[in-house]
Amino acid sequence: MGRLDHKIAFITGAAGSIGAATARRFVAEGARVALTDLDADALDALAAELGADRALALPADVTDSGAVADAVARAVERFGGLDVAFANAGVFGAVAPVVDYPEDVFDRVMAVNVRGPFLVAKHALAAMRDGGSMIINSSVVGLTADPGIVAYATSKHALVGLMRTAAKEMAPRGIRVNTLHPGPVANAFQHRIELTATGAATEAEAARAFEAMIPLDRHATPEEVAAAVLFLASDESAFLTGATVPLDGGMSV
Ligand SMILES: NC(=O)c1ccc[n+]([C@@H]2O[C@H](COP(=O)([O-])OP(=O)(O)OC[C@H]3O[C@@H](n4cnc5c(N)ncnc54)[C@H](O)[C@@H]3O)[C@@H](O)[C@H]2O)c1
Repeated sequence: MGRLDHKIAFITGAAGSIGAATARRFVAEGARVALTDLDADALDALAAELGADRALALPADVTDSGAVADAVARAVERFGGLDVAFANAGVFGAVAPVVDYPEDVFDRVMAVNVRGPFLVAKHALAAMRDGGSMIINSSVVGLTADPGIVAYATSKHALVGLMRTAAKEMAPRGIRVNTLHPGPVANAFQHRIELTATGAATEAEAARAFEAMIPLDRHATPEEVAAAVLFLASDESAFLTGATVPLDGGMSV
């Protein structure tokens, strides 16, 4: 028995570190997965790894409403329904004080990180079966903030408003909506942020500076994030909705 037997999931940013780890875990737990990302080649490789009967690659830009609507429609057509949506695609932007922050970068971060999950909510929740679950990947800086990250922190806070609204709207159909707030994850996305934010000479030195801010004194693994997404996607969390779920080793306490 898998924890997601008979469930059909839609995952954005599926070619990335957390998205791919989640797709692998979902399939291992019995789900069929529709995978969306900008990176078509990486999506194809992941879908081939997971098997054509279990995974469908649907390249799409999450900022494009027509593309997201089409991807959701193709997922439903191929697998016969939709039970889980994981809005996970995201970008970081730049490190700069508010007074210097480049406006074009701010606009792009808001487009991918806020408009993207909004469009996933709009199209996937409309297609979702009663009793489904949407998980929105925010960040520890959707609950806190640090200097230099105005676009990223603003975008990740905005997802809480999206989640709370959608959770109340969808509750009558038994569909749950929650945000997940991971702290630093050991992957390329985070290594780039840490090198830029600290100005350290090496990845390891930058990582130690961040770990000093985490009570559990380490980064998360992508698989640990996938395990939390699995819990929120599965019926084990059936009474959990409208929640901001921290997964940050105590960083936001
Ligand atoms: N890595 C961390 O430490 C960390 C911590 C907290 C939250 N997060 C969040 O987790 C999510 C996944 O990040 P990750 O660490 O796996 O990074 P990643 O860069 O490996 O994955 C992000 C994926 O999103 C895709 N993407 C970017 N723009 C897109 C667009 N317009 N349309 C479709 N796909 C697009 C990228 O191609 C990439 O595959 C992001 O939302 C990120 O903000 C990451």
